[in-house]
Amino acid sequence: MEVKTSLLDNMIGVGDMVLLEPLNEDSFIVNLRNRFDHNEIYTYIGSVVISMNPYRSLPIYTPQKVEEYRNRNFYELSPHIYALADEAYRSLRDQDKDQCILITGESGAGKTEASKLVMSYVAAVCGKGQEVNKVKEQLLQSNPVLEAFGNAKTMRNDNSSRFGKYMDIEFDFKGDPLGGVISNYLLEKSRVCKQPRGERNFHIFYQLLSGASDDTLMKLKLDRDFSKYNYLSLDSANVNGLDDAASFRTVRNAMQIVGFMEAEVQSVLELVAAVLKLGNIEFKPESRVNGFDESRVKDKNDLKEMCELLGIEQSVLERAFSYRTVEAKMEKMSTTLNVAQAYYARDALAKNLYSRLFSWLVTRINESIKAQAKTRHKVMGVLDIYGFEIFEDNSFEQFIINYCNEKLQQIFIELTLREEQEEYIREDIEWTNIEYFNNAIICDLIENNQNGILAMLDEECLRPGTVTDDTFLDKLNTICAEHQHFESRLNKNSKFLTDHSLPHSCFRIQHYAGKVLYRVEGFVDKNNDLLYRDLSQAMYKATHSLMRQLFPEGNPAKVNLKRPPTAGFQFKASVGVLMKNLQTKNPNYIRCIKPNDKKVAHIFTDSLVCHQVRYLGLVENVRVRRAGYAFRQPYESCLERYKMLCKKTWPHWRGPARDGVEVLLTDCSVPTEEFAYGRSKIFIRNPRTLFTLEERRRACLEDLATLIQKIYRGWKSRTHFLLLKKSQVVVAAWYRRYAQQNKYQKIKSATLVMQSFVRGWKARNILRQLKYEKRCKEAVTTIAAYWHGTQARRELRHLKVAAREKHAVSVIWAGWQGTKARRELRRLKEEARRKHAVAIIWAYWLGLQVRREYRKFFRANAGKKIYDFTIQRIMQKYFLGLKTTTMSPMDNTWPAKPYGFLEGAHTQLRRIFHLWRCKKYRGQFTEEKKAVYEEKLEASEIFKDKKALYPSSVSQPFKGDYLEIQKNPKYQKLNSAMEEKVLLADLVNKINRANGKGSPRLFLLTKSNFVLADQKTGQVKASVPLPDLASVSVSTQSDGFFALKLKEGSASASKGDFLLSSEHLIEIITKLHRIGTTAADRDQINIDISDEFLVQFKQDKVCVKFIQGGPKNGNSAACKRKNNRLLEVSVPSP
Ligand SMILES: Nc1ncnc2c1ncn2[C@@H]1O[C@H](COP(=O)(O)OP(=O)(O)OP(=O)(O)O)[C@@H](O)[C@H]1O
Ligand SMILES: [Mg+2]
Repeated sequence: MEVKTSLLDNMIGVGDMVLLEPLNEDSFIVNLRNRFDHNEIYTYIGSVVISMNPYRSLPIYTPQKVEEYRNRNFYELSPHIYALADEAYRSLRDQDKDQCILITGESGAGKTEASKLVMSYVAAVCGKGQEVNKVKEQLLQSNPVLEAFGNAKTMRNDNSSRFGKYMDIEFDFKGDPLGGVISNYLLEKSRVCKQPRGERNFHIFYQLLSGASDDTLMKLKLDRDFSKYNYLSLDSANVNGLDDAASFRTVRNAMQIVGFMEAEVQSVLELVAAVLKLGNIEFKPESRVNGFDESRVKDKNDLKEMCELLGIEQSVLERAFSYRTVEAKMEKMSTTLNVAQAYYARDALAKNLYSRLFSWLVTRINESIKAQAKTRHKVMGVLDIYGFEIFEDNSFEQFIINYCNEKLQQIFIELTLREEQEEYIREDIEWTNIEYFNNAIICDLIENNQNGILAMLDEECLRPGTVTDDTFLDKLNTICAEHQHFESRLNKNSKFLTDHSLPHSCFRIQHYAGKVLYRVEGFVDKNNDLLYRDLSQAMYKATHSLMRQLFPEGNPAKVNLKRPPTAGFQFKASVGVLMKNLQTKNPNYIRCIKPNDKKVAHIFTDSLVCHQVRYLGLVENVRVRRAGYAFRQPYESCLERYKMLCKKTWPHWRGPARDGVEVLLTDCSVPTEEFAYGRSKIFIRNPRTLFTLEERRRACLEDLATLIQKIYRGWKSRTHFLLLKKSQVVVAAWYRRYAQQNKYQKIKSATLVMQSFVRGWKARNILRQLKYEKRCKEAVTTIAAYWHGTQARRELRHLKVAAREKHAVSVIWAGWQGTKARRELRRLKEEARRKHAVAIIWAYWLGLQVRREYRKFFRANAGKKIYDFTIQRIMQKYFLGLKTTTMSPMDNTWPAKPYGFLEGAHTQLRRIFHLWRCKKYRGQFTEEKKAVYEEKLEASEIFKDKKALYPSSVSQPFKGDYLEIQKNPKYQKLNSAMEEKVLLADLVNKINRANGKGSPRLFLLTKSNFVLADQKTGQVKASVPLPDLASVSVSTQSDGFFALKLKEGSASASKGDFLLSSEHLIEIITKLHRIGTTAADRDQINIDISDEFLVQFKQDKVCVKFIQGGPKNGNSAACKRKNNRLLEVSVPSP
């Protein structure tokens, strides 16, 4: 990346217009165009920054750029808005000077963008830390919120600020941001109700409808379709490059960061929705008796929804749209509103509601971002106010906006000149006056308290009698007629000048930026800004708390009959405060210029730019700046930049910088009238002089470059040579050392050889001497030893002779003793040998005997023993294996047979074991249980494999008394009627022969008879002695039917047989059979099991036939009479 060290380096055109040569309007525009075409959108006029709107994003706002401009002097780098922001921030931080940044230019020129760039630069370079970052974030995020509510698409700008904004950012002594205060100026509220062709309402309406979730819209009673709302213009609802839905999310997020509570956001959206609803309320006339028309709400749906949203009683609001209460001196009068008045009231309410909501938002943001610490703050103000506007149709708003711009121009002129003047005084330079257009006269025309246009408008609004816009114009015509910047049709006519471009109901003001034609229509109304009290009172009655806050004058307790201050008055006052505030601060200017009217990049319309340059007075600004001296620079920087032009100052000047510059300029032969010496700066009168210096510097730089190159090359070669030389010395030294080392080694080894030879010779001599001495000593010793030896041997010989004589006697004795002993030993040995032989022979004999015996014994028994032992082991293992079997008789498991030879025993053992465990099991039975099992056994004998019902009965225990006849008081009487113990009591169905239907009966069985009794009364219906019972018939199937057949001729047989059905058939029949078996005096009862049997009913025999029925018959068997002789029982198939 190319690093610039001065504004003057690699310049495209001229970076600072002050240096423009020649200076005139054309060269000014050509320079701007040249720079604009090369993407240089910023140009300086001294310390003022001119900013051209590029209408596209340029890569000049990156973090690297921020770093590049950080802590650099203003003229050090090419012109940039960051340089201005850095200069302002540093003089605020380091010199404790409050700053203000005034951004001006017409609509769409890029003021808002510039203000955001300044804020983001300051945020990037000031201190860091959690708290500081939070403050920064809140300050930056206040922008999207205010832009959503206060900006709109206009013909000139897709994001035009429709309010003025001044933001004070507060810093502590270290330069860390503490908070801020935002002031807003006159929101263009008429836009809420009506937008010019091709323009839109405020962004928030479109953002809400496009971006809110379906749920939110439903809560707000809104529809996504823009066309449903009268207040939203449709022809330009969608703007290219604007994503309303995404912006809505950004705004909500920003509100959250700024510190809005969720409920507050909801309230704000509700009010926005209410404004939309309000626009949809329409009126119709209704004739009154007095001949006047009275307005009525046409379709009440929107009114109702709005009232529901805000918690207002519908009738109260409806009335406020039809009547108006006028109060004067304690008297109240109610007048009706016609349709036009109702529409006026509706729009006034919408405008007021929206503008108050906007002011509330600003107050609320201020609450969040206000500085906490109470210490003295340093302040940087950023002013982004609506630009100068000239439309075809200019109204009150444009008048106010243009007035504000006049004031800003005024302060610009004042402060620039003052600053220039102050600098000359500070630097002790003589000041020459300069001619420029001062717009104070226009400001006076508008704001003069006696005869200014605003004062007259107020006077007209407060005047009793009929006041119209025309009476106001008349007044202007009389009072301002002579003013040179005021024109109207009437005063032109009076001067006999005909001007057809001036309609009757208009006046024209020649502003500093051009002539603007204002249409007086609406001036009085807009200045009055009246909202009927009935409406504000209706709003105050709302349950919506934010709504009540916005209309405090609606509080009946605080009725104020005084007129509120007019809009013009309020604006003038707030502009006055702003100007005072700005005057206390050090100003920094950004003059924004719009390159074309098409809002597109790369187009530079000369006429448009020229117009702006002219009315912004930029050329004049340059002239003022150059009036005395075109260029100034601190001595140090000047000396640093040009010191190479003079031998005395190059490369270093040791004295004070001012003297150095003096020497330098004299040496360069710059004429003395071309410059002046200030206290800290050198002032150069003519840009040409500067350019000459620059030219010489450039040439000098080339020479210097050659010099540097030469010196560098010399230095490089010398360094190389020195290196070579040094290397050679090192190599030689090393070689010499190596050679000497070798020589030394050789001498050293020769010396060692010689040394060893000499030492060897010497040693051998000494050895030889020592050996001789040793031999002499040994010879003496040997001779002495021989002598002593001879002496000793002689002595020994004498001693030996004496000893031999003594020893011979002892030897002879010992020989005799020995002979005797050997004879005795020989004898004893012989004897012992003989005894031992006998014992051995005996032992051998016994052993032989024993072995013979044992062999015989072993052959007879060993096989059997081994076999027994093996069998015993196998059986043991087998029996232990059987231990796993359980004691349950139901358990059928039995271990597999382990050996073939055990087959019979294994089966037998299994049988025996089973019988044994059954016996054990039976042994545990009580008498009752035994009887039950006996019965069960009997049932099995009777029914098993014969009747299908049997298997299901096996698991049911035989209870006998199902009716609990003894306990149940219902059957007490029946129980007492029974003479014997009841063995079975159950509920059965007696089948009626006539229709096959069953009727319930109680069935009781004792040892001697069975009884059928009525189920309800317990009355005995039949009692049959068991001997009369011949047989029992049942089917083979799963039904519970059974026939009790009586013996023919018996007393009971007269009534006929019984055909019954019971759920406990198996138990009943078993019990009957058992009684028959146990009774000694009776025959056994026959049990006949077949699917067809005859039953005797009185005289007739009827056949009962069982058939298998389909599933349609249900679960139970059904009996049906087929004919006189046949009863058919259909049994469900299993
Ligand atoms: N420095 C810039 N870089 C890129 N685009 C820019 C720059 N300045 C302005 N613009 C473009 O120009 C448009 C208009 O700019 P801006 O809204 O700042 O104008 P303004 O002067 O505030 O107008 P108004 O008085 O209507 O509010 C921006 O939306 C943006 O698209
Ligand atoms: Mg703007």
